[in-house]
Amino acid sequence: MKIALRTISISIVGLFVSLTLHAADLPHIKMENGTGSLIVNGQPFLILGGELGNSSAGTAAQADSIIPKLAAMHVNTVLIPVAWEQTERKEGSFDFSILDHWIETARGHNVHLVILWFGSWKNAFSNYAPSWVKSDAKRFPRAESADGKPLEILSTLSAETRRCDSRAFTALMRHIREKDSQQQTVLMVQVENEVGYLGPGRDRSPEANKLFRGPVSDVLVRALAAKRLQLSPELAAHFNERGRTWSEVFGDAANEVFMAWNYASYIEAVVQAGKKEYALPMYANAQLPAPQERAGEYPSGGPHPYYLEVWRAGAPSIDFYSPDIYWPNFEYWVQRYEVSGNPIFIPEARIESAPYNAFYAYGQARVLGFSPFAIESLKIPEKDSDAKPEMMQVYELLDSIRDLLPAAQVAGMTRGLVLHIASPRPTQTVALGGYLFEATLSRSWPARAIIADDGAMLVLQTSPGEFYVVGSGLTVSIARDPDVDAGIAGIESIEQVSRASGQWTTERRLNGDQTNQGRQLLLDPHRQYIYRVRLYSITREREH
Ligand code: DGJ
Repeated sequence: MKIALRTISISIVGLFVSLTLHAADLPHIKMENGTGSLIVNGQPFLILGGELGNSSAGTAAQADSIIPKLAAMHVNTVLIPVAWEQTERKEGSFDFSILDHWIETARGHNVHLVILWFGSWKNAFSNYAPSWVKSDAKRFPRAESADGKPLEILSTLSAETRRCDSRAFTALMRHIREKDSQQQTVLMVQVENEVGYLGPGRDRSPEANKLFRGPVSDVLVRALAAKRLQLSPELAAHFNERGRTWSEVFGDAANEVFMAWNYASYIEAVVQAGKKEYALPMYANAQLPAPQERAGEYPSGGPHPYYLEVWRAGAPSIDFYSPDIYWPNFEYWVQRYEVSGNPIFIPEARIESAPYNAFYAYGQARVLGFSPFAIESLKIPEKDSDAKPEMMQVYELLDSIRDLLPAAQVAGMTRGLVLHIASPRPTQTVALGGYLFEATLSRSWPARAIIADDGAMLVLQTSPGEFYVVGSGLTVSIARDPDVDAGIAGIESIEQVSRASGQWTTERRLNGDQTNQGRQLLLDPHRQYIYRVRLYSITREREH
């Protein structure tokens, strides 16, 4: 009788949870006008993120020093690793006490979390798996190199590894649901980290060899054939739907596609298991190739833009794919992920260039979030007179316009650009609202020598002649866009402004030398500010 009563009460709790937790009430992704937003409590939530270094979240106590520091930097979402080996040291027994403390501390500072599940793989390798997994290569087989050597990389093909990883991930998601579904401090989950096979070719274990010689899954061939016109050039160049084996269907790309399919299939199972418990948005991230790097030198088969459609076919439950960008060609890599239906979120960005790339990300790529890696390594000022790290200045400003940005992103009313002294082009231009904003790195006057090594801006249009420009280090000339009309543009006024609680304050009206006699917007080379720029245009008849 006791047991029966307990069963009834458990199922009532379950029913209550499923009745109260509708998908629309959970954080979720909404795609509109090609822009992906994260919706939290019914409102778009722009992530001003920061990912923690690998050794910064392994204890509860670290939360006490790191979270307040990041909150002071206007980071509103912290990306923290949760390691399989720490949460399931003994098989079947789970301990989430460290995570609980991070959740509680984050809540106390009005900060959100994105959880990074370091399960079977982190940067290709499997060192975050518990020792009962790593030490039993019979039960949990490894990928093998061409000479038959087992690698420190768990095989994607083991049903047992997949079952245990899924079981642990399920326990994690259940725990987060029970602890957090009301407050929703945890917003999203990254499943595994920068997966892929390192080494020449592909996994050469006997099982992998057998599968590689066999037929390609029908599901994959049909999915790719249906999207033939949307395939990346790398995939389109190789895909032959009339083939049968991996080599026949994918030619020279067969090894990498084979690995992509196997990672995607494995991770799909983990994601599905986790979402059954608590369906937060889940994504996978990629370690991008360094210039000239070949597959296997970078983790081969990860969710790179080349074979993203293979991942989408193999892992339909993954909400989106994200680049971790440490290379100088930031814009190129972002653009490669701007494929239909893929919201842009950058979970890892190189911290040195992040204060500039952030403006491109939020303004031009319309990201739902951006997150410099190891952000806790920045030193925050102890006194008011100490300089703030540039990233802190950037987030402080973006935080102040966070109420305006998501709607403007969706409406296509934002732009962004970034320039460095080593950029291949000395100028960059963005078009918005009938105007062209042409930027160069800040120049001195009258010598016109470059006085800033880096510059970037985000432009936000609020009405036909009113724009807010956030950034630093640029000289910006503004003209009418000849694609719109043959008019002439003029600067009516430029003010340096600030915003708090939705109200603008004018700090300075810029005149004379500070606007190059009314001809240019000069973004301070050393400090980030918001400028309100009012423009007028004189219409002219177009000459024939
Ligand atoms: C990418 C990984 O995802 C991070 O965890 C970290 O290892 C950085 N690279 C580099 O430090």
